Parts: sequence; structure tokens; C-alpha cells
Amino acid sequence: MDIIIEPKEHLLGQIRVPGDKSISHRALILSSLVEGTMEIEGLLEAEDPLSTYKCLQELGVEFNGDWNRLEVKGKGLRGLREPDNFLDAGNSGTTARLLLGVLAGQPFFSALTGDSSLRNRPMGRVTEPLKKMGASLDGRGSSTLLPLYVRGRDLTPLRYTLPVGSAQVKSALLLAALFTDGTTEIIDPFYSRDHTERMIQYLGGRMKRKNERILFETPLTLQARKIQIPGDISSASFFLVAAALAPRGELLIEEVGINPTRTGILDVLKEMGAGVKILNEREYNYEPVADLFIKSGAPLKGIEINAEIIPRLVDEIPVLAAAALFAEGETVIKGAGELRFKETDRLSALTLELRKMGALIEELPDGLVIKGKAGIRGACCSSQGDHRIAMSLAVAALFAQGETVIQGVETVQISFPGFFELLKKITS
Ligand code: S3P
Repeated sequence: MDIIIEPKEHLLGQIRVPGDKSISHRALILSSLVEGTMEIEGLLEAEDPLSTYKCLQELGVEFNGDWNRLEVKGKGLRGLREPDNFLDAGNSGTTARLLLGVLAGQPFFSALTGDSSLRNRPMGRVTEPLKKMGASLDGRGSSTLLPLYVRGRDLTPLRYTLPVGSAQVKSALLLAALFTDGTTEIIDPFYSRDHTERMIQYLGGRMKRKNERILFETPLTLQARKIQIPGDISSASFFLVAAALAPRGELLIEEVGINPTRTGILDVLKEMGAGVKILNEREYNYEPVADLFIKSGAPLKGIEINAEIIPRLVDEIPVLAAAALFAEGETVIKGAGELRFKETDRLSALTLELRKMGALIEELPDGLVIKGKAGIRGACCSSQGDHRIAMSLAVAALFAQGETVIQGVETVQISFPGFFELLKKITS
């Protein structure tokens, strides 16, 4: 499906964005493993969490009620059943990697696959440490690619230093640790998103973090407790950047998760000169939440974005690249090589697509250099089948000269159904 975006000068609204994708996956998985029945409110109803939901159904988990207020009958740690078919993670790396951690510890056989993009994404980063815990996994490329075949068994605790700043890897190992007896120690020098740690603690797990060191003691029983999912800051980012770039207007985004491992976008937008304010801070199930306000019209300047902050804004680089197109001076993004392993190679995809709009953008092995104010014009671009590329192009198109066609926009269903409707609402 194609969409046409016309340039806009003015943006105004008070909106909410759908539930946090990362927290939604974790809520679905962990609620399936609790003792008792619990309720999840505000889940993201999009293709990625739906992949997790369907896999869990195949594993015997019962869900009732509507998606906005879902009741989950937890199976306890040992109550899942052997699936009688392939589990399909679709396009979702989080589904695949987190479920591998769970499946490795089950007393049954399972097979996990995904779509063509996911079947080419690296899984060795999860299978290699899981094998150190005693997991039996097999698949193409010495068990580094889906489909993967898992012969579940009892696992042993692990002491492991994460070699990549990936919350999916860290979470897979913490989930696998649920099926061990002892202390698992994970060293996370990257401080990647910590929703799994927070949710396990909320559900009664004994987990401590001291600087880079996470200590997790098992065995344990997870307790049923209600979970409320805040809006996704990664989804909010498209609107924050659009509001920052608009010549006139203001935007209030209510009920957004502001977990400090995710708020790199706010720091960067402030450093670029945008007028962002964090209001009405509160907490849902150990997750900080706030309303975000942004006033349009402040001139933006190019900045340097370095390796250290990347894990805190890894999904926001595409929309920050859109922001950089209209900032004064140069924006340099470094230490972002992980973007090559997302739904597409996002560094290449951004370079290719933004050049079609006249961007002066250079691709580095681990980043991008973007010269701002290069006279961005409407063009015919492609999402490359990646939801975040589609939405970032839409934000850039709002401030280009002339109209832009974006092909393949159905991909926004992965994380943000209703994105284009909401964009239209605040720009008309
Ligand atoms: C996610 C972690 C990040 C992020 C992805 C969601 C998660 O991936 O890009 O969209 O929910 O744990 P990596 O763990 O590969 O960095």
C-alpha cells in the first residue's frame, strides 16, 4: 500500500500512542508463567505482540477478554504444553529471542521460525549463551539462524558478560534463568532496556542490579499481579520529532513510558534545541510514566550521537535521521552498527531512501553523517518493509518541498496501527 504525504506548517494536538511494544511482549510472556490469573491493561495490539500471543496460545496459554484488558491464566513455570506445530514469531525479533529463553527450559520439544526478514537475523547471540546453560538447540548456520529446534531441559545458572548491547539477549537469558536453581549473573555494560528485570521484580522475583552486574536468584514462583502498559516512547518519538520540526504548533503526548533506559530520544532532542518537557511523572508496575509536551518552532542544530547513548535510543535513530535533515549543521551518528541487524539494515535503508529526497547523507560502517538543510524535496520512497523506516520517511515528508509517496506502508501494522490516521489528525 502507498501513501501520499503533503508538506505541513502547523501541528497541534493532545494524543496518546499505543502501548509499549517491549513491555507488551514481556507482559504476555511473564503472565503466562505466573501462578494464578492476572490482568494486562493497554497491551499494544499490533502484529509483533500478536506473534507472541499466538505462540503462547500454541503453548497452551489461555487468554480471555479483549486486547485492551486481557485476562491471562498463568500456567506456572512448568505448565506450558508441547506445541504440535512450528511456533511462528513472524517479523518479531523480541518474540523469537525471548521465547527461545523460555523454550530452552521446558520439558518438551519445540520448533521456532519467522518471516524471511527474521530468518536472516542473528540468533547465535542468544543460542550460544543458552547452550552454556545446558540448552539443546539446533538450526542452520550452527544454530545461529531460524528455524531453530529446541529440545527443552533443565538448565544451569550462568555467569555471562553480554558482548552486544541487546536487551533481547539479556531478557532471553533472564527468562531461561527462571528454569535454573542458583544465581545467574549477567554483566550488562550497555545498560540496555531493563523492562524484563523490572517486571520480574514486580512479579516477586529476587533480582538485583549493582552497576553493570545483574544478579538473579532462583528458584522462584512468579506471582499474579495486574500490569498496566504505558504508551511506547519509540512510537511517541515520531510525533515528538514531527512537533520539533514543525514551524508552528504544540503537542501533548499523554501516558508515555519514560524508563531511563529508553529516554535517549528526549536527551538528544533537547540537545538539538527542541523544547521538550516531561510532565506529571508517575509509575505503573515499577515503570516510570509521564506526559510529554513539546512546543514547535525552536531551531534545531546538528549534534554528535555516540555509542554510549545508542542502546537508549536504538529504535529512534531512523526518526532522528529525519530530524537531522532539517537541523543546522552536521549530525554524526556513531557506534550504531546494531542497526544493520534490525528488520532491515537500517543504516543502508535510511541512506538509500533519504537520498531520494535530496538528503546529503553518508553511510559509515557503524553510523551516518547527515548534513542538514540540504533542500529536502518530496520523492517516491519505499518503507523497505520496515515499520520504523516507513514512519520516519513520513515525518521527513511533512517538511519536504512537494509531496512524497511512501510505498509499503502496511508495515506500520508491526508496531503502530493507526499511525497515519493520528498523523493526519494532528496536522490537519
Ligand atoms: C527490544 C530490544 C531492542 C529493540 C527492539 C525491542 C526489546 O533490540 O531494537 O525493537 O524489546 O528487548 P535489541 O535487543 O536487538 O537491541
